[in-house]
Order: sequence, then structure tokens, then C-alpha cells
Amino acid sequence: MMSEADILQLLMRRTPGYSLAQPFYTDPDLFQTDVMKVFGTQWLFAAPAQEIPKPGNYVTLQIGPYSVIVVRGADRKIRAFHNSCRHRGSRICAASKGSAPKLVCPYHQWTYELDGRLLFARDMGAGFDLTAHGLKPVHVAEAAGLVFICLADQAPDFAPLQREAVRYIGPHDLGNAKIAHQSTILEKANWKLVLENNRECYHCSGSHPSLCRTFPDNPDLVGSSLGEAATEGAAHIARCEAAGLPSAYVLDPSETWRFVRIPFLGDAVSYTMDGKAAVATGIGHVPVQDAGTCLFFSYPNTWCHFLHDQALVFRVLPVSPQETQVTTTWLVHGEAEEGRDYDLNRLTEVWLHTNDEDRQIVEENQVGINSPAYVPGPYSQRQESGVIQFIDWYARTLERKLLGRIQVAAE
Ligand code: FES
Ligand SMILES: [Fe+2]
Repeated sequence: MMSEADILQLLMRRTPGYSLAQPFYTDPDLFQTDVMKVFGTQWLFAAPAQEIPKPGNYVTLQIGPYSVIVVRGADRKIRAFHNSCRHRGSRICAASKGSAPKLVCPYHQWTYELDGRLLFARDMGAGFDLTAHGLKPVHVAEAAGLVFICLADQAPDFAPLQREAVRYIGPHDLGNAKIAHQSTILEKANWKLVLENNRECYHCSGSHPSLCRTFPDNPDLVGSSLGEAATEGAAHIARCEAAGLPSAYVLDPSETWRFVRIPFLGDAVSYTMDGKAAVATGIGHVPVQDAGTCLFFSYPNTWCHFLHDQALVFRVLPVSPQETQVTTTWLVHGEAEEGRDYDLNRLTEVWLHTNDEDRQIVEENQVGINSPAYVPGPYSQRQESGVIQFIDWYARTLERKLLGRIQVAAE
């Protein structure tokens, strides 16, 4: 059993610039602590709003032991609730998505309005107070067509992210997009290995032949900040900004999220095998076709790419110490028609390959870490500045939450 004090000690003893000690990637108590103190306290990406475009549309998310329903109400407002009935606690919606006029618990049919109010509970007696048994709400907020939830009692301020999302993602107009494809895979690796792998392209040339046709693996472009030698990146940003497209590197002060627009290789404009557009109709009102890709991440659970012709959004959910669910959603213009404006295989093949390649990499990373011989190893300052930034963010976030808790307990 690892106590919170043990975890704190392990965090404080870590060597910055090195991968974490084995328990961070393997231990069940540490996993539980990650879920409660990191996933339980931050804004989490839940779904594109267009995944639930109509009243009654819902998605469910499993975040460790938490199950959450995100549903659009009759008033078109998106709300989120704990997916646990106020009668005896049964899960209400078992499907990962669906549509329902009311939320009906399958156990004894307690029936909830889409806004969480309990409408009907059979034979509960004359004095039974329906209003005291509504679904427990979860914070929900939308940023330029991306729905986020927060499990904490008090959610961190969402306004700064929302503001920047409107600037950077707004031109891609996700509100009028449609979902062209979605894939969900289970990666047999700790969630932090999935994030670490995403935050570097040190592995790209060795693992991603399809992606590397268009995506630059230059660490000055994809690292934790634009390197001094990133003249190519700076020129791209200047060109896009001159066209009215916010593009400059922006990292929030807590380093939880970032936006930057980077160029593709050569003449490429999209993630396709030939670099040409995958969709005939642009996704929003992006003024230039060679806008490259706007990279967004928000810790702990999403990274996204916004292009001229499509948006790719990724959601990472921790399942167990060595299992992580990764959902990828491809969005295109709302009126783009498959077969006429895009070919689904062409649209999705690069990232379906890339995701599977990344799955294999992180699973091998996990297997190697599980060996008693594993010791933390050094990150490349040049190639893995993004991983260093993520791990520092993680350590700082967890440390702060654990310290706060231990101080309260000591008082
Ligand atoms: S547990 Fe939901 S109605 Fe009984
Ligand atoms: Fe990768």
C-alpha cells in the first residue's frame, strides 16, 4: 500500500529531466491518486459539442471509477452529471453514447429530466421529495465547440482557455462541423506514457512513416516552446497572423494548455499520404489553405490538431494503472459529404496508422518499465522538452494537491 505521504516523498525525490520512478507507471494506489488528484481536479476534455448536436443526445465517460453523462437538454444547453442513480446508485446510461428523451435508470425506472431533475420515482411514499434526489451535477464548459467537464467541487477558472480557444479554434468553426469518423482504442500503458509519447517527436522518424510525409519532426517546431532556431515556425506564424489567423505560441501561466500553429512539410496542407487536402470543403473560414496545423493540448487528457480541411481531437482517459483509452474524432465541414467531398479512408488513414504505431510504442514502453531492472532515464533536452514540460506539470500539480491535503490533515 502506498500512502499519499509515500507518493509525495517519491515526487520530491524525483530527478527533474528524468522519467519517473516505476510506481508512477505501475502502482494501483498511485493510479488512484492520479485519478483523484489530477483527473479529479482539472478540466477534462469530454467530447466535441457536435457529438451531441440534438436535445437528448448524450455521451458517457469513464474516468477511473467515475462515470459521467454529458447530455444536451431540451433547452439545448449541455450539462454533465454523475452517472449514478440517486436511488441505490445504479449506473443509468451504460452505452458510450446515445439519445434519450429522459434519463431512465434501468434498475427501478427512476426517471430524470435531461437537466438532472428527478421526475418520477414509483411508490416512494407521500412525503418523498423528488427535488432532493436530482442527479449530482458535474461542471461543464464549452470552448469553441469542445466540451470540457470538471469533477472537482470547485473548478479552476475556465475563462482564459475559453478566450484563447475562441481565437485559435474559432476560425475552424467546430459548431458547424460534423463528425466524419471516430475511433476508440485501448492502449495497455499508463496514461502518462500516452501523454509523454504525444509530447515528443523524437520517435517519429523511426515509427511514423505515414505521418512523417507531412508532419515536421523538428523539435524547434513541436517542442515545449519555439526554439531560437525556429525561423521556419516564426515565418509560418507571421504569414498566418498576417492573414488574420491567431497562430503565435501561447502557453497558459500554469502550463496546462498551449496553442501554436506550425507548418507542414513542403507543400503539404493536410495529414494525407500525398499531403494534399483530404476534404474539398474547408472546415471553417480559415483564410489560407496552407495554414499548417494548430496544435492544442490541455492536460491531462487532450491534444488536438486544427487544419484547413479538418479537425482531429483526441481524448485520453485513464482506465487502470496500465490501460488507457484513446478516442480520436475527425471533424469536417458540416455539409461535406462522404464520397463527394472526401474519401473516408484518405481522411483517416494517416492517423489510424499513427495511433496504432503509438499504441505499440507505449505498450512496449510499459513492458520495459515493468521490469525490476527499470530505472528512470534522462530525457533529451533538445528532443523531449515537451515531455519534460508535461512531467514537470504533472509533478507540480500532484505535489500541490497532496501537500494541501497533508497540511489540512496535520492542522
Ligand atoms: S437504482 Fe436507479 S432506480 Fe433503483
Ligand atoms: Fe507518435
